[in-house]
Amino acid sequence: MKKNIISFIAIMMVAAMIALPAQAQQRRTAEEYIKILESESRISGLQIEKVIKTLQVSPGQKVADIGSGSGLFSRPMAKAVGINGIVYAVDVDPELLKHVEKSANRSRMSNIKTVLAPFDDPKIPEKVDLIAIIDTLHHIENQAPYLKKLRQYLKPGGRVAIIDFSADWPDGHEKMRYTVDDLEVWMKAAGFKQVEKHDFLQNNFFLIYQ
Ligand SMILES: C[S@@+](CC[C@H](N)C(=O)[O-])C[C@H]1O[C@@H](n2cnc3c(N)ncnc32)[C@H](O)[C@@H]1O
Repeated sequence: MKKNIISFIAIMMVAAMIALPAQAQQRRTAEEYIKILESESRISGLQIEKVIKTLQVSPGQKVADIGSGSGLFSRPMAKAVGINGIVYAVDVDPELLKHVEKSANRSRMSNIKTVLAPFDDPKIPEKVDLIAIIDTLHHIENQAPYLKKLRQYLKPGGRVAIIDFSADWPDGHEKMRYTVDDLEVWMKAAGFKQVEKHDFLQNNFFLIYQ
């Protein structure tokens, strides 16, 4: 119990750092941001392997990781889709995408392709089986029209997985808050239906739409 509380506090502290105001973010280098995104407490809190397993990513699939950040999820997704699959690491930050490219090269992963996208459209180069938006939807302004655009990037039967804060939002996120009810309205308007709900993440919802 005590361990859970300590790790929860650590996760909230990391989350608060991730949500620095725009001005402070400009002062923060990509390297500093990557350190925060890949901190031990964040990695253990996000249960990456379990998330990837739950997503049932399989060999040969095409996946888009919108808001890929440092590539924390893109790399294990690339492992899961294998050499015949592709992971599009989509982000608005060119420095983070450079890091994703470098780390993919270091790990000899040729199936991660980076996409520098504008803020209002992920510009995924082809239709994919799965779009994952992890710890990112709260950064996207005007979520409803953004989510409506996703359909055009999905193969028939394709899925959209969203992970984001649930009950307790960390300090600094006040203006970015939304609820699962908001998300349901946006996704319904975009023509998606919730098909899976997972609750093993502490303070994060994990929903899959189709
Ligand atoms: C908190 S990080 C999460 C990174 C990664 N998904 C993870 O969980 O480790 C949020 C990421 O979303 C990116 N981002 C912010 N607004 C975006 C937008 N409109 N479209 C795509 N990416 C965006 C940021 O540059 C940042 O890399």
